This record gives sequence, structure tokens and C-alpha cells, in this order.
Amino acid sequence: MNTGLCYSVFFKSLFLFCFMIHVIPFASTTTFLSRNLAENETDVVALRAFKSKMISDPQGVFNSWNESRHFCEWEGIRCGRRHRRVTILDLNSRGLYGSLSPYIGNLSFLRILTLDNNSIKGEIPREFGRLFRLTNLALANNSLVGEIPANLSHCSRLTVLSLQRNKLVGNIPSSSTPCTTS
Ligand SMILES: *[C@@H]1O[C@H](CO)[C@@H](O)[C@H](O)[C@H]1NC(C)=O
Ligand SMILES: *[C@@H]1O[C@H](CO)[C@@H](O)[C@H](O)[C@H]1NC(C)=O
Ligand SMILES: *[C@@H]1O[C@H](CO)[C@@H](O)[C@H](O)[C@H]1NC(C)=O
Ligand SMILES: *[C@@H]1O[C@H](CO)[C@@H](O)[C@H](O)[C@H]1NC(C)=O
Ligand SMILES: *[C@@H]1O[C@H](CO)[C@@H](O)[C@H](O)[C@H]1NC(C)=O
Ligand SMILES: *[C@@H]1O[C@H](CO)[C@@H](O)[C@H](O)[C@H]1NC(C)=O
Repeated sequence: MNTGLCYSVFFKSLFLFCFMIHVIPFASTTTFLSRNLAENETDVVALRAFKSKMISDPQGVFNSWNESRHFCEWEGIRCGRRHRRVTILDLNSRGLYGSLSPYIGNLSFLRILTLDNNSIKGEIPREFGRLFRLTNLALANNSLVGEIPANLSHCSRLTVLSLQRNKLVGNIPSSSTPCTTS
């Protein structure tokens, strides 16, 4: 991995983050609240998009995915206690038939994504490369095709990657490719 570049990007964002910590208290409360709102709405929008790409749900998993409940209470979802952002999406062996929405790449707090043993077709969206907190990605025994996104391993904490029993081609992306934000 091009650690030099990764670390420099990391420290730049750390600097920006520290800078923001100092600036936010002086920003207007309204701006801060609407920013908060935008962030938690991003997760619900992404989950709706995920659901919309699933054509068949024979076990009725998505019955609990209705707007009368907070999305943190939906089946297969776990959230962080403080932030109430999605940290785990685990729907393995639910007979789901459909494809993967690129919106999943917006679940920026996601650590574990487990969709093993379903009937998910199509490609793994490149946007998964944006899930920089992801440690486990389990998509084994589906009908996924195409290449494993080349930037999946860039600057990521990914330690468990299970993709067996699909129709994917190419290699598991090498972590020696340069870290980019393109
Ligand atoms: C987002 O946060 C706001 C303010 O904390 C809250 O009122 C709203 O219900 C939250 N929305 C979701 C979908 O969690
Ligand atoms: C939403 O989910 C709850 C809990 O599963 C259920 O009781 C309720 O009937 C659902 N509402 C709709 C409109 O589907
Ligand atoms: C895979 O899912 C099917 C139902 O879709 C289930 O019958 C089977 O036991 C599951 N296999 C594993 C290894 O979980
Ligand atoms: C989320 O992801 C989709 C597709 O990758 C994108 O079009 C959308 O603008 C993103 N942002 C939000 C806040 O939903
Ligand atoms: C793979 O999934 C199919 C159904 O989609 C199921 O019948 C089969 O048992 C699964 N195989 C394993 C090893 O889990
Ligand atoms: C991976 O590619 C996607 C789509 O082009 C992009 O949105 C994302 O930022 C990239 N991630 C990294 C870590 O380069």
C-alpha cells in the first residue's frame, strides 16, 4: 500500500476535522442541526435504495423495514449507540433475489456487510470502495458477476472478504495500488 499517501490523506482529514471542531461551536445552531439531519437521513435513503433493488423477499425480511420504526430497529440492521448510524447490515441466507444498490456506499459508518447465501445478481458497485470503515464483507454464494471493484482495498480496514461461489472474474484487488480518492 502507498502508505505515505494514505497517511498524508489521513492527516489532512484529521487536520480538517480538528479545524471543524473549533469552528462548529461558532457556526449557527441551525446549520449544525441540518447537517446532523442530513447525515442520518443519508442512511435511511441508502437502506430504502438497498431494499428497492431486492425484487423478491420470500421470508418477509422487509416487513419490518417500514417508516413507523426507526431504521436502527429494522431486521438485519445494527446501529452505533451514540451516533445512530448503521454499523452492521446482516441479511445472510434470507433468500433475497435482486441486485446491490450503489447507495450502500453512502453508509459511511458501516463495518460489517453480510449478504452470504442469497440470490443477488449483478456487479459489486464500485461505490463499496467508499466504505472506509468496513472490516467484513461477506457476499459468498450469490450470483454476482463482473470484477471485484479495484479500489475496494484502498485505505480500508477490510480484514474479512468472502466472495466464493459467485461468478466474479479477475483478482482480489492488490493493496499495493496507489491510494486515490478518484
Ligand atoms: C435525524 O436526526 C434528527 C435530529 O437529531 C431527528 O429528529 C430525526 O428523527 C433523525 N432521523 C432519523 C431517520 O433518524
Ligand atoms: C411496520 O412494522 C411493524 C412491526 O413489524 C408492524 O407492526 C406494522 O404493521 C408495520 N406497518 C406497516 C404499515 O406495514
Ligand atoms: C442458504 O440459504 C438457504 C435458503 O435460502 C438455506 O436453506 C441454507 O441452509 C443456507 N445455507 C447455509 C450454509 O446457510
Ligand atoms: C448516495 O449514493 C448515490 C449513488 O451512489 C448518489 O447518487 C447520492 O447522491 C448519494 N448521496 C446521498 C446523500 O444519498
Ligand atoms: C447456496 O445458495 C443456494 C440457494 O441460493 C442454496 O440452495 C445452497 O445450499 C447454498 N450453498 C451453500 C453451500 O450454502
Ligand atoms: C472508489 O470508486 C468509487 C467510484 O468511482 C468512488 O466513489 C470512491 O471514492 C472510490 N474509493 C476510493 C477509496 O478510492
